[in-house]
Amino acid sequence: MLVPNFSQPFVKTLEVPADKSVSHRALIFSAIADNSVRISNFLRAEDCLSTLNCLKALGVEINLAEDVFVHGVGLRGLKKSAAPLNAGNSGTTLRLMSGLLAAQNFDSTFIGDASLSKRPMSRIILPLEKMGATFSARENNFLPIKIFGANLRGINYEMPVASAQVKSAILLAGLYAENPTTVIEPAPSRDHTEKMLAAMGARIEKIGNAITIFPAEKLFAPEKISVAGDISSAAFWIVLATILDGSEITIKNVGVNRTRTGILDVLLKMGAKIFLENERLECGEPVADIKIFSAKLRGIETGGEIIPRMIDEIPILAVAAGFAEGTTIIRDVGELRVKESDRLKAIVEEFNKLSPATFEAQDDILIIHGGGVKKFASCKTYGDHRIAMSLSIMGMATEGVDLDDGACVKISYPNFFDMLK
Ligand code: S3P
Repeated sequence: MLVPNFSQPFVKTLEVPADKSVSHRALIFSAIADNSVRISNFLRAEDCLSTLNCLKALGVEINLAEDVFVHGVGLRGLKKSAAPLNAGNSGTTLRLMSGLLAAQNFDSTFIGDASLSKRPMSRIILPLEKMGATFSARENNFLPIKIFGANLRGINYEMPVASAQVKSAILLAGLYAENPTTVIEPAPSRDHTEKMLAAMGARIEKIGNAITIFPAEKLFAPEKISVAGDISSAAFWIVLATILDGSEITIKNVGVNRTRTGILDVLLKMGAKIFLENERLECGEPVADIKIFSAKLRGIETGGEIIPRMIDEIPILAVAAGFAEGTTIIRDVGELRVKESDRLKAIVEEFNKLSPATFEAQDDILIIHGGGVKKFASCKTYGDHRIAMSLSIMGMATEGVDLDDGACVKISYPNFFDMLK
């Protein structure tokens, strides 16, 4: 897939596809509600379709028209799947649904693609076993995993890593436990689960980084859930508009939940010109139009609590840092080693081929020295959607890039290359 250089100002009003995290949750939580739900602007990308197919295999009727109609079966209405559940490339499908299936009175087996089969699952297996479920898995807790559902007890669990997927798995299991469950995060991760379950009537309390969920009898979903645009997808155009001189873009209808906007905070600190307009709440989630003007960026140091707020945006932030003046140091990004690919490795191996800048990873720290000579290169995406899109943006702003595999963008942004054209 050839992405040509684009050396013009980028001036446009655009929209990005629906939020992936919110789309997964809208499906899963509606499936266990006591009513039918219409989801508008659902993300029709491979990851969310993995969730949809797993729920159908568990006996949930879901109709995919212009909107998606989910006929909730209630907390106790799921049925054992006749075949293994295939989570594809999707960590969110696998981890969230494991929490749900840990509480059912049947067993379930998960399989996934080569990337998902290498990602760590101990992080969900350990807490869910403490709650009373049992698992069998390949050595070191990799896929395939079999979940033996059980009557669960509530736990108090201090999470070793900030992970919304792990937190959500435990909270979902906690809905079914005989007493309350508390998870304590080392730093706040995205809170779409807490917001949406609370909107469906679950009792959830938050004190500092501790979140407690109480056992539920029933969930009632709003009749209609509208999903806003994904800030993780918007981030690619935000960075492109920032680095191409003379650009001015508006991205309409983007989710700007504070647990997701770390990328905006860091870019602003680097000198970006980003403005939120028309701020509003939709289905309990903050939404805005984002206006971006090109700007000269300078290198900064960042890390700590902000990282979970921009965990998926580190590759595109690295692209921005490559165009900044000076050095950028991004600490505490070890989790990038266990995403859809080892993203630190991908950044160092591939971005250095293409970019004017230099990229180094030392343990869990990413160091980017901005500037240098522009070049054209052939790069590998490692089958990772966010690496493919980050390389495309970098290629557009340099001398172009040839990607070994562009198809992986279907995981989160199926029309990315049409937009790019
Ligand atoms: C997600 C949480 C994040 C993120 C992933 C989606 C979610 O993973 O990287 O793309 O929807 O909960 P972790 O929670 O494991 O960091």
